[in-house]
Amino acid sequence: MRALVVGGGGREHAIASEIHRAEAALVVASPNANPGIDRLAAATLRTDVTEASGIVEFAREQEVDLAILGPEAALAAGVADALRAAEIPVVGPDRAAARIEWSKRFCRELLQKHGVPGNPRFRSVTDLSDLEAATREFPGPFVVKPSGLSSGKGVWVQGKDFQTADEGAAHARALLASPAGRDGLVLEERLDGEEFSQMAFVTDSGVYPMPAVQDYKRALEGNQGGNTGGMGSYSQRDHLLPFLSSAQREVAMDILQQTVAAMRAEGLPYRGILYGGFMLTRDGPKLLEFNARFGDPESLNVLSLYEPGDFGELLMGVATGRVDPVNVRFRLRATVTKYIVPVGYGGQPAGGAILEVDEAAIADQGVRLYFGSVDLAGAGRVRLTTSRSLGLVGEASAIHEAHRRVESALAFVQGDFYVRHDIGSRDDIAARVEHMRSLLAPGAKASPLPLSVSPPDASPASHGTSAQVLTD
Ligand code: AMP
Ligand code: GLY
Repeated sequence: MRALVVGGGGREHAIASEIHRAEAALVVASPNANPGIDRLAAATLRTDVTEASGIVEFAREQEVDLAILGPEAALAAGVADALRAAEIPVVGPDRAAARIEWSKRFCRELLQKHGVPGNPRFRSVTDLSDLEAATREFPGPFVVKPSGLSSGKGVWVQGKDFQTADEGAAHARALLASPAGRDGLVLEERLDGEEFSQMAFVTDSGVYPMPAVQDYKRALEGNQGGNTGGMGSYSQRDHLLPFLSSAQREVAMDILQQTVAAMRAEGLPYRGILYGGFMLTRDGPKLLEFNARFGDPESLNVLSLYEPGDFGELLMGVATGRVDPVNVRFRLRATVTKYIVPVGYGGQPAGGAILEVDEAAIADQGVRLYFGSVDLAGAGRVRLTTSRSLGLVGEASAIHEAHRRVESALAFVQGDFYVRHDIGSRDDIAARVEHMRSLLAPGAKASPLPLSVSPPDASPASHGTSAQVLTD
């Protein structure tokens, strides 16, 4: 098999690595010279990921059997449509179905129309008169989001990014008048709880889950600073999370399944990766957003656990409509990913710095290295862009041990960078479990959810998903 990967970040390096490990040939179309991907690739095209015609031409020239689209920008630009029109099977929905990600208004309205559970109270806003009504709608704290794509960085949360309802309304007015607000806004009730990401392979034959992951969205330690695409993430040995029970994960999977059925009913069949971003609240999992692709950094965690089934065959199954569940297998290990980012990332990142990376020493620590949006700058050196730079993934049987492994490996990267040391630490995980417990405690302010929280690093429990074959 010969596969085309579109995109040049850490997520695409993780996808490319698994394709390579499955002994399929790889070609890549990306804007940057990602050293990790390029050395695995038989051919490379330097291009913006939205350049559909150039990408199709390259795919034809290279006689690829399959294409995998990494970034949402490629999906929103219709690159999947163009490849399918050229009869190339694609992992990734057409532009019309990727709308589940590129229009938050569409996503909320779809769930509402089809009675899919998981929506918070929300209002779609397209003009100033909607906005007047919408801001009166929320008795409690609310959130302001541009409907269109914003790389996870456009959401303003009351109590974090603004304080009073008037400040929120003023921000919403300014957003509506700016290019970022041209597709309208969504205002929604602020959900309190712990976030988790549940991704699945989706095709005609079913919805096949990956391990649950928790992403750290805020730029700075202690969950301070602005929202980012994700600074790092962890997964637990049993594919649940320290605060997430098997039953709660099943609720999230049910929301994914019902959404896929709703899309099919709307004439939007889906072949690709569906990513549900959830908040576990007192009232169970609620949907924050859908993404129409692998998460980044979450894909670094889960693809590091991919069990050699045949990854190429799995992706081909997704693209052509029938997945063999035997190929959907993930090892029973905890993982921690930390992204090294340019100083100032999450605000005004300083691109251009050079990092020295001792790959062999990192590998000696048993830590995987995925190159992000960097360019090769000579042997063992990379030049940073303004995006995330290097993803380090540790694995162990316990989350805090995987964290410790990544921390040791950081000694082998030299230069100016920022990294969140708290991701996956024992204290941080304990604080998250405690946060969930305090929300569930009798006397806390909202309606109760049955207390059913697994302890950190719990041993394998039931997973409730027949597609998963679990081995250690
Ligand atoms: P989104 O792009 O919709 O996933 O939003 C990015 C981040 O904003 C999420 O990961 C949450 O941290 C936060 N967020 C989004 N919607 C809400 C909400 N309704 N309540 C609280 N936080 C939210
Ligand atoms: N980690 C969040 C995302 O991939 O959008």
